[in-house]
Parts: sequence; structure tokens; C-alpha cells
Amino acid sequence: MNMPQSDLVQAVDAVGKPLELAIVLPTFNERNNLETLVERLDAALQGIAWEAIVVDDNSPDGTADMARQISLRDPRLRVIQRIGRRGLSSAAIEGMCATASPVVAVMDADHQHDPKLLPGMLRAIQSGEYDLSYASRFCEGASTEAWNRPDRVKASGFANNLARKVTGVQLTDPMSGFFMLRTETLRADAHRLSGVGFKILLDILATVETPLRVKEFPLDFAARAEGESKLDRTVVFEFLVGLYDKWLGRIIPTRFALFGTIGAVGVIVHMAVLSAFLTAFGGPGMKGQLVGAFEVGQTIAAVCAMTFNFFLNNALTYADKRLTGFVPLMRGWAKFALTCSVGLTANVGVSAILVHYGIHEYPAALVGVVMASVWNFALSSKFVWGKYGAN
Ligand code: GDD
Ligand code: MN
Repeated sequence: MNMPQSDLVQAVDAVGKPLELAIVLPTFNERNNLETLVERLDAALQGIAWEAIVVDDNSPDGTADMARQISLRDPRLRVIQRIGRRGLSSAAIEGMCATASPVVAVMDADHQHDPKLLPGMLRAIQSGEYDLSYASRFCEGASTEAWNRPDRVKASGFANNLARKVTGVQLTDPMSGFFMLRTETLRADAHRLSGVGFKILLDILATVETPLRVKEFPLDFAARAEGESKLDRTVVFEFLVGLYDKWLGRIIPTRFALFGTIGAVGVIVHMAVLSAFLTAFGGPGMKGQLVGAFEVGQTIAAVCAMTFNFFLNNALTYADKRLTGFVPLMRGWAKFALTCSVGLTANVGVSAILVHYGIHEYPAALVGVVMASVWNFALSSKFVWGKYGAN
């Protein structure tokens, strides 16, 4: 049936206006922060038609269940529960793409961001004078004193400086997690955003074609209310990974680059262990007493290097899928060892064939090493940390 335009029912919020603002709340273990946060949003956004979208990565503390409980009472709160996924940036992007609201904000769900700033941020965008509003921890009038984390202030300062240098984005806090923009601006470039790590604002600013007119709001960055920070340990590392992903991620995938770098460090570990072993047991005077010192040393060194690679990859390359607990770690280690030994056999086999056909030893060895690392990466990403893995 064809309905005349005027008969179409328009979705109207309780305040009597169509939806104006969506607030995306990425969460991981924020169960006890949600209820009070919705209350604070409600108080701060009187007279504004809003909805809030929790994007939860299947938090073990049941954040998504709590969000659903709240939305039964207050349907302005919605939930996206992602299974088998982790990451602040990708959660923010998915949340921002999941609303019909013309304007969308992203903020932390742990009360570190003051909802009172939202109406002013919205007015700046609705006025047409600005394309993006954001809350800065480091501009004139802002404060990080209540945060009580001088180490993090320092880390953020470092990341912000580097970000300004390499991207040319001139904001006092491009690492801020509290910002707002028109959803169509976001959607136009969403497919080009990296989605890795946490520097989503910087990513947006560096990705859009036409520079955005930015309005800065000083933020009094509070201490987290409940629970603990997920970015504490990895903030600088993730930042560097994010920059890499933006620049070179399309040429050599970020995870593979990390895997390869750790592999290269593993070679150094191998050589160090081997030389220590040979110094101790393989000295000229000892020869003959210990049969096959080199073979024993080489085996010990290989096991050490592989173990080193396993734990480093588990902590960094697969930080988002990290295996924890004694049994999963041991199982992961064994699977990694198996993968690597197949890779090693292929490595030796292929390089030997190449040498046999007259290729010089070193280029032949290099081909073997590269082939084995691609193999190790492909297999371990599936069987150790992937969908066929222990988790
Ligand atoms: N869905 C999802 N997935 N949410 C996440 C994830 C994740 O993997 N990791 C963190 N979050 C959520 C948290 O639950 C919280 O609501 C928000 O993202 C910020 O995470 P925190 O763990 O509280 O970060 P922080 O306070 O240490 O970091 C602050 O500084 C960063 C820059 O230095 C925040 O303001 C960040 O937004 C900011 O980028
Ligand atoms: Mn926080």
C-alpha cells in the first residue's frame, strides 16, 4: 500500500523530537558502571532526543546482560554484543554505524568522561560551524589531576606528540576517546578506517578527505569509577601498532609483521643460547668428552627461541586473543611447537632442493626461512590462537 508522506509515522522520542544524538559506549567488563552512566546521561541530556548503544565484546562480567536489563526499562539504551571479537576502535566504528541518529558520540563507559559536555558538543555540530567536537584532556582549562595517573599522562603525551608529527593533525589530544560528529561524515569513510587499537579519533581525522572543522572542549578527566583500565599495559605498544597498520598494513598485514619481527628477535635468542651453551660445554678442551655438543646446544637453543616466540606472540601479536591459565598456555605451546617443527622441516627441505639446483646457500636459506614463517603464521593463527585453537 502506498502511504502519503504525511501519514508516515515518524519515530519520535519521549521528548517529542526525532532522534538527535546517539552515544556509543564501547565496553569490556563495565557491568557496574552502566546503570549510573545511563542516569547521568539522562540528567545531562534533558530536552535532547538521544539513544545510547553499548558495544560489548562479550565481557565475562556480564556487561551485555546488565545492559539488556536496563534497556527493558529504558529502551533508549541498546546493546550490540560481539562474539569472538575484541578492540575499542572496531567496537566504536560498529556502534557508530548502527544508529539512525544524524549525530553520534563515542565515550568511555567508566565515568572518566563527563556527560555534561555532550549538549555543548552537540550544539557546536548542529550550528553547522563545526564537523567534529571532542573533549581534550590536555588543552587550556582541562585537567588530568583527578585521574591520578602521571605515567599514563606521560604515555599519552608521547603518543599525542608522535601522532601530531606523523599525521599533521593539530589537536591537543588526538588520542581522546570522547568525541562527536555527524554520522554521515563517519559513514562516508568508515570502510577506510583501520579499526585496530584504540586511536579511533586520530584515525578519523587522518582518514577523511576534507579536513574537519574541530571544536575542542576542555575535559576534567576523572578517575575510573569501577573496574580497571584495559589500555593501561598496552597503550604505547598498541599505538605504534595502530600507526603501522594505517601506513603499511595493506602491504604486509600487521599481525604478520609482528609475528615476523618477533621471529627475528627469536633468531637472536637462539644464537645467544647456542653460543652460551657452546662456551660452557663445547670449548676445545671439552671436545670428545661431550659427544655432539653442537646438536644438543642447537636443540636447546631452538626450544628456547620457540618458547620465547610463543610467549611474545601470545602477549603482543595475539594480545586480543591471549591464552591465559596454565593448561591453555601449555596446550598452545605444544601446538605452536608442532606447527614450528613442520615449518622447520619444510624450511630445510625447500632450501636444500634450491641449493641442489645451484642456488647460492644464503638466498636459498632465506627462501626457506620466509616460507617457514608464512607457514608458521598461517597455521598458528588458526590452530593456536584462532577458531580451531584452545579458546
Ligand atoms: N568493546 C570493547 N572492546 N570495549 C573496550 C575494549 C575492547 O576491546 N577495550 C576497552 N574498552 C572500553 C572500556 O570498557 C571503556 O569503556 C573504554 O573502552 C575505555 O577503555 P579503558 O580501559 O577505560 O581505557 P583507559 O581509560 O585506560 O584509556 C583512556 O585513554 C585512552 C588514550 O590514552 C580512554 O579515554 C580511551 O578512550 C583513550 O583512547
Ligand atoms: Mn577508562
